Amino acid sequence: MTPVVWKTPAEVRSWRASLGGKRVALVPTMGFLHDGHLSLMREGLQRAEVCAVSIFVNPTQFGPKEDLSRYPRDAEGDLRKCGSAGVFGVYMPEPSTVYPPGYQTYVNVEDVSQGLDGVSRPGHFRGVATVVTKLLALFRPDVALFGEKDYQQLQVISALARDLELGVEIVGQPTIREADGLAMSSRNAYLSAEERQRALGISRGLFSAQKAAQHGETNVAALQKLVRVELERSNFREDYVAFVDAVTLKPLENLARGTPARALVAAFMGNTRLIDNVPILLPSV
Ligand code: PAJ
Repeated sequence: MTPVVWKTPAEVRSWRASLGGKRVALVPTMGFLHDGHLSLMREGLQRAEVCAVSIFVNPTQFGPKEDLSRYPRDAEGDLRKCGSAGVFGVYMPEPSTVYPPGYQTYVNVEDVSQGLDGVSRPGHFRGVATVVTKLLALFRPDVALFGEKDYQQLQVISALARDLELGVEIVGQPTIREADGLAMSSRNAYLSAEERQRALGISRGLFSAQKAAQHGETNVAALQKLVRVELERSNFREDYVAFVDAVTLKPLENLARGTPARALVAAFMGNTRLIDNVPILLPSV
């Protein structure tokens, strides 16, 4: 079924008021949907009776030199995909609806926004936190689903939902990958065929470090080297290769049993900035 399309907060509110006690799931997106997005919708429908999606390329999370104006869009295809996933409705507001003249309120999540992408993309998480808070306040979902693909973003959103007592369960879902290991991303559309091949260097490097940790390597410098070898081989320009505490996102020098860790990479393939991450587990004994 083709989903209902909402363009204004008033339309969403009147739908929400009509639902009675039904459990609602929300999946916020910027569109150009792929199987990663669809996995969030399917999980939403496992956890709630109704699933809604938002598609909004949020200007406040893009820096002045970033890809806002050329971000890929396909409203028609996206609606079809939402329909086949069983989504009831899709919120597709205009930027001037979300940020009308006089708009002046922003949400700033402090600690977990600071390292990693917070350094490379100043203001990015302020934009993400602001738009996600607005969407959660508008939809008042019981559960909202986000991908581990954007691991730092997931921690930022978990923190804001907890700190602002929004009463929503934030659920993180594993990264969906192409058959060869590349993490699905709307931004993969920017890659040429040749870049697409070389882009495998990120996941290859991360998996190689993940495996080394599973075999007992605990020294972060050694693990970083394994990732960097693959990035260099594929001609990536590194932004960062980080091994961090999985909850605080503080950098680690050595892995330790009992401290869940995460390896995260950001790197440029030509002009395209790609990110990926994996959980790091030590051997069980
Ligand atoms: P977007 O990049 O469209 O991603 C929407 C959601 O899909 C995010 O929670 C993201 O982590 C998840 N996602 C993306 N690729 C994935 C993959 N390969 N596997 C699993 N999940 C994946 O992230 C945003 O939009 C925006 O920042 C947003 C949260 C909507 C705020 O504007």
